[in-house]
Amino acid sequence: MKHHDPAILAEADAWRSRDLAVLWHPCTQMREHPDTLPLLPVARGEGAWLVGPDGRRTLDAVSSWWVNLFGHAEPRIAGAIARQAHTLEQVILAGCSHMPAVELAERLLALAPRQSGRASLAKVFYADNGSAGVEVALKMAFQWFANRGDEPRRTKFVALENGYHGETVGALSVGDIPLYRRVYAPLLMEAVFAPSPDAYLAADGRSAADQAEDAADALARILDDHAGEICALVLEPRVQCAGGMRMHDPVYLKRARELCDVHGVFLIADEIAVGFGRTGTMFACEQAGVMPDLMCLSKGLTGGFLPLAAVLATDAIYEGFLDDSRERAFLHSHSYTGNPLACAAALATLDIFESDDVLARNRRTAARMAELAAPLAALPHVADVRQAGMIVAIELTEGGRKATPFDRTRRVGLQAYTHALERGVLLRPLGDILYWMPPYCIDDGQLELLADVTRSAIEAATS
Ligand SMILES: Cc1ncc(COP(=O)(O)O)c(C=O)c1O
Repeated sequence: MKHHDPAILAEADAWRSRDLAVLWHPCTQMREHPDTLPLLPVARGEGAWLVGPDGRRTLDAVSSWWVNLFGHAEPRIAGAIARQAHTLEQVILAGCSHMPAVELAERLLALAPRQSGRASLAKVFYADNGSAGVEVALKMAFQWFANRGDEPRRTKFVALENGYHGETVGALSVGDIPLYRRVYAPLLMEAVFAPSPDAYLAADGRSAADQAEDAADALARILDDHAGEICALVLEPRVQCAGGMRMHDPVYLKRARELCDVHGVFLIADEIAVGFGRTGTMFACEQAGVMPDLMCLSKGLTGGFLPLAAVLATDAIYEGFLDDSRERAFLHSHSYTGNPLACAAALATLDIFESDDVLARNRRTAARMAELAAPLAALPHVADVRQAGMIVAIELTEGGRKATPFDRTRRVGLQAYTHALERGVLLRPLGDILYWMPPYCIDDGQLELLADVTRSAIEAATS
């Protein structure tokens, strides 16, 4: 086989050495590279495959950090970016306008979740990655109350336990994953954490809906206790992704919406990971018939080609910033706000949703994922197999008992990762939780490979 050619293997090794001489990789203990943690050189992408300099193919089962929708180097998106690059690559969005930004805003607002009796989301503010989008939404909610000027001010956020919203200081403040948060705790702003509706936490005999109702009751108590102090509730609808692909019943979102209304608190839906068809509907909020006041989008927004975020807001929020004074304006900006290339990629992405009937195809793919994942539940160390549309998660514990997670020093997830990589599949477990979050273009043969390698990775890591 081509990738056993010694000259090609040497080239891959030389690549790794050059990389490790100069690069500091994200979310990585660099000391583990390359011996404990392999480093995969990627020369190009093709559909759901990542292709190395040696020609070796690896299945991208995590959509390159959940961004890729229709495959790598998708020609329609690549073409749209190239055309835009020859027309207008970038222009300052303060005081200038360009059509890709306008058209994208129009189309996102037309697609956004609706709720009867509520005025639709009506304005779009761009940022350039997910965390930056979350910062925008938090600052908007905070400043809206500040602009109103009635005292005492609402200055706090409620977020969910086990939630994740990014790594910048504001986004980290409303995240609850100790591994990312702990060291920065002295820098973070104060947030109030409400119990997670996570169905995995339901006690024996309690359903996912019971768990969601219990968590909503707890949220009600928190909002009562902090009446008049909270500007917004921020949450990931349906799936707490970085928190281990933990899923909840949509009834939680319905209750959270009602509670926010009762308390005059904005609801911020962070659809950065779950938006764009990932959980079965275009946006996860739709599954609860709920419209947020602010919705954060990023990741799949550009089909996984370029960094871009969009924050959708109601007119009621927008109007809270209109004033004779500049100080009441939302004076937030990023140099690349609304970059035309990224907007062109996003427009091409929305075109593909329409032309390829993506949501219908995803339903078929998700049904096949369910069939292939079901037998994994019978493995001795599997505690849970769960699914929301194009996300499947397999939680590994000692003996498959929820009460006995594996000792962290065993690094079961890491062993599964390295085993799968050797067999040509890029899984990137969250601790000991393996998950499938593939590009939507994944085909039956690739799904079978994924299931087969997942099974052997679990067996190898837990034996
Ligand atoms: C729900 C959610 N919000 C925000 C972010 C942050 O996005 P970014 O990594 O683009 O900053 C992520 C990233 O994984 C996410 O999953």
